[in-house]
Amino acid sequence: MADFKNILTDVKNGVLHLTVNREDKMNALNFETLDELRAIFEEVSDTKEIKAVIITGSGEKAFIAGADISEIATLNEVNARKFSENGQEIFSMIENCHKPVIAVTNGYTLGGGCELAMACHMRIATANAKFGQPEVNLGIIPGYGGTQRLTILIGRGKANELMMTGDMIGAEEAKSLGLVNHILPTKDEALEKAEEIIAKILSKAPLAIGMIIDCVNSAYVPDENGFQTEANSFARCVKSGDYKEGTSAFLEKRQPHFKGE
Ligand code: COA
Repeated sequence: MADFKNILTDVKNGVLHLTVNREDKMNALNFETLDELRAIFEEVSDTKEIKAVIITGSGEKAFIAGADISEIATLNEVNARKFSENGQEIFSMIENCHKPVIAVTNGYTLGGGCELAMACHMRIATANAKFGQPEVNLGIIPGYGGTQRLTILIGRGKANELMMTGDMIGAEEAKSLGLVNHILPTKDEALEKAEEIIAKILSKAPLAIGMIIDCVNSAYVPDENGFQTEANSFARCVKSGDYKEGTSAFLEKRQPHFKGE
């Protein structure tokens, strides 16, 4: 994978580790960083050797403290719509990626940072993580899908409260609301937990994993019938070699060897 200016990349055992690396700006997402995320996820989809992704932020203080406010301050009505649609598109690419994507949220996870974490398939927080959608303090609203994903993840009442007050919540409250899957004391331990979950997922049938992602995401699409997507995906699984392998292995009392085909 090519080098990027704002995101460090490292592939270990088939897992691409992405570190947003603007520590002096609390890893705020500027236009350039978003472009880099888009390029990276295009490559993730096309690269067989990359089987999963972990996203974190540089340093201990922040995962990502939002979109870059120095850029937000220059928007006008026309480019603000594009700004929002561009972010939505990139975060949807992440959400729809057929390979598991886990956010390890170390510290401030605010605004666009919280929206990016919510677009990932799971979130693992460090004990010092703080979550919030403080856009209302700037006279704006979440624009990278946050109004939708937060509502789906934690429900309307709490989503309204967080977005309307701009309040931050700690890792424990985020976990109790369903925003976070696990909390670990340190970033290293949180990364280890993410790797452990990914290792388990990668031992399963890859086509089935991709279809679970499609079916879960179809619950977000108002004009899509998620039950129909599920039945269609189920039928597609049954055409795969991995289905034959998985069922045969169980009946033959042995471990399955999945090939993703
Ligand atoms: N965009 C651009 N720069 C940001 C930023 C953002 N979203 N968040 C933090 N920074 C920058 C600060 O401007 C500061 O830069 P400087 O050293 O050049 O002045 C640097 O990161 C450190 O931030 P600072 O505010 O000094 O740290 P802190 O520990 O006092 O506070 C936060 C941390 C996260 C609470 C605070 O930075 C903050 O509220 N950030 C904005 C969060 C936000 O509104 N996000 C939504 C954006 S849509």
